[in-house]
Amino acid sequence: MKFFLDSADIGEIRDLAATGLVDGVTTNPSLIAKSGGTFIDMVKEICAIVPGPVSAEVTALDHETMLAEGRKLARIADNVAVKVPLTPDGLKTCKALSSEGVPVNVTLCFSPAQAILAAKAGASYISPFVGRLDDIGADGMALIADIVQIYSAYETITTEVLVASIRHPMHVVEAAKMGADVVTMPPAILRQMFNHPLTEKGLAAFLADWSKTGQSIL
Ligand code: E4P
Repeated sequence: MKFFLDSADIGEIRDLAATGLVDGVTTNPSLIAKSGGTFIDMVKEICAIVPGPVSAEVTALDHETMLAEGRKLARIADNVAVKVPLTPDGLKTCKALSSEGVPVNVTLCFSPAQAILAAKAGASYISPFVGRLDDIGADGMALIADIVQIYSAYETITTEVLVASIRHPMHVVEAAKMGADVVTMPPAILRQMFNHPLTEKGLAAFLADWSKTGQSIL
């Protein structure tokens, strides 16, 4: 399973990329606004930090402008994936960019029917938002199970299931159990995944005992 960071915080991306556990990054207009940075410059900088795909989202609603935006974003770096919304114009743009060899991440997916459309449009990634479904009392992870099942039934579907809107480490664990291809998570969730009280307790005990030996490895 691939790990993407869902962030436009350059410091956090740089810091966590150094662990070697980060395969890519997803951004969205809200994350860019929160960072206060200049979109194009930020995408360029993030693309230089991580080797894998960096999703950069178009902001137009009509196909012609989306296509022009997508082409401009794709020229920023070889590892840009253009993000388009799951609308008729978004999928038309997905089809066009995909046929030009540009990887496309179709975002704002909330149903299996939408995921089927994205695969038909040649998306490289489909981004179902599990947290936002949970927020309204629906079952976000059930959507992932449905999409994984549907995509697995067709050898010709190469669209990767990119689980988005992750709220806690259990979302990541559930996505892994279901065989999802990618999860994109805020930096804080990746940091949380390291934690277990027994790890901290066990390490403290080992170090206390080691110091009693008076030895050092180096
Ligand atoms: C995915 O690409 C989106 O940027 C993201 O996961 C949305 O998450 P949110 O619901 O926490 O805003």
